[in-house]
Amino acid sequence: MNALSPMSDLAAYLEALADPTVAVSPDGIVLGCNTGAAELFGSDIRNQALTLLTRSPAIAQAIRAATLQREKSRVPYDLYTVPPRAFEALVAPVVTNAGVAAVLVTFRDLTREQQIEKMRSDFVANVSHELRTPLATLSGFVETMQGAARNDDKAREEFLKIMKSQASRMSRLIEDLLSLSRIETNEHVAPTSEVDLTQVVRQTVELLNSVAKNAGCELQTSFSGPVMVMGDAGELAQVAHNLIENAIKYSGEGKRVEIAVRRDGDAAVLLVRDNGPGIAAHHVPRLTERFYRVNAQDSRMRGGTGLGLAISKHIVNRHRGKLLIESELGRGSTFSVVLQVSK
Ligand SMILES: Nc1ncnc2c1ncn2[C@@H]1O[C@H](COP(=O)(O)OP(=O)(O)OP(=O)(O)O)[C@@H](O)[C@H]1O
Ligand SMILES: [Mg+2]
Repeated sequence: MNALSPMSDLAAYLEALADPTVAVSPDGIVLGCNTGAAELFGSDIRNQALTLLTRSPAIAQAIRAATLQREKSRVPYDLYTVPPRAFEALVAPVVTNAGVAAVLVTFRDLTREQQIEKMRSDFVANVSHELRTPLATLSGFVETMQGAARNDDKAREEFLKIMKSQASRMSRLIEDLLSLSRIETNEHVAPTSEVDLTQVVRQTVELLNSVAKNAGCELQTSFSGPVMVMGDAGELAQVAHNLIENAIKYSGEGKRVEIAVRRDGDAAVLLVRDNGPGIAAHHVPRLTERFYRVNAQDSRMRGGTGLGLAISKHIVNRHRGKLLIESELGRGSTFSVVLQVSK
C-alpha cells in the first residue's frame, strides 16, 4: 500500500474534512481547498491570496501569527450573502520538521447555531413579557387592597375578580408552554391508536357552541360519517378547538364559521372557514411561530397567548399531516388539517 505524500495528496486530505477548508502557503497564497470552500469562494482559487478572497484583515493577521508564532487562532468571519451567513475561521499552522509548511483555514458555519440562540433568547423574552404583564396587575391590586381600598368591600370584590382572571391567564400560559414542550418531545413518535376525526370535531363543536353564541357567531357543521385516522384524540381535539375558537374570536359578531370533516381519497380533511377580517399575506407564513400574533394587544385582550397555532402545528406534524392556511384580507380565512386516513 502506498503511503500518502502530504503535499501531493493535499486535495484528498482537504476533501476528507467536514467543514469548508483552505490550505495556504506561509505567505497566504491558496495551495488547495475542498468542495465546501470552493462553494464559498469559487472553484478556481489556487494561487490567489486568501486575504483578497475573504477580504478579512483578521484572517490575514491570524495567518501571519500561525506562520511566525506557530499560533492557532479563531476569528469571526461573516459572509454578507442573502441571507447572511456567520462563520468562525479556525486558522492553524501545519508544522513539519522543516518548519511551517502551510496554514489551514477551516470555516465553521455558525449560522444555524446563532439562529437557535436567537430563537431561545426571543422565547425567554416573550415568556417573561407575557408573565410580567398580569403579574404587575396582580401586585398593583394587592398594594391597593393593602392601602387605599383596605376597607372598601365593593372595590375589593371587583379587584379580586380582576386578580382571579389575571392569575388564570398566567396559569393558562404555563399550561400552553408545558403542552408545547410535551408535544415537541413526542413529535417523532407517531400516534398508534385509531380515532374518528368526525367524532373528535363534533365533540369540540359541542363544547364551543356556547362560546360562539356569546360571541354572536353561528357555527355551521358538515359531517359525512366516520373518518378514521391514526391519532391522539386529545391532541386532535386541541387542534380543532384552537382553529374553531380562533375563527369565532377573530371573525366576531354576525359572522358564520363553517366546520367540515370529510374524506378526500386517502386524505382526512378538517376544514374551518370563517368570513371574518382575513389575514394579510405577509403574516400567514409566520402564524404558527410561538407568540406570533397579527395584533398582540388585540389577542391579549381576548385572553390569547399566541401559542395556539404553534401547538396545533406541532400536533399536526406529530400526526404526519399538514396544516394549511389560506386567507384574504376582507374575505376571511380557511384553516385546514390534512391527515392520512387509516382505512
Ligand atoms: N381565523 C382567524 N382570522 C383572523 N386572524 C386569525 C385567525 N386565526 C388566527 N389568527 C391570527 O393568528 C394569531 C395566532 O393565532 P394563535 O391561535 O396561535 O394565537 P391566539 O389565538 O392569539 O392565542 P391562543 O390560541 O394561545 O389563545 C392570532 O393572534 C390572530 O392574529
Ligand atoms: Mg388561538
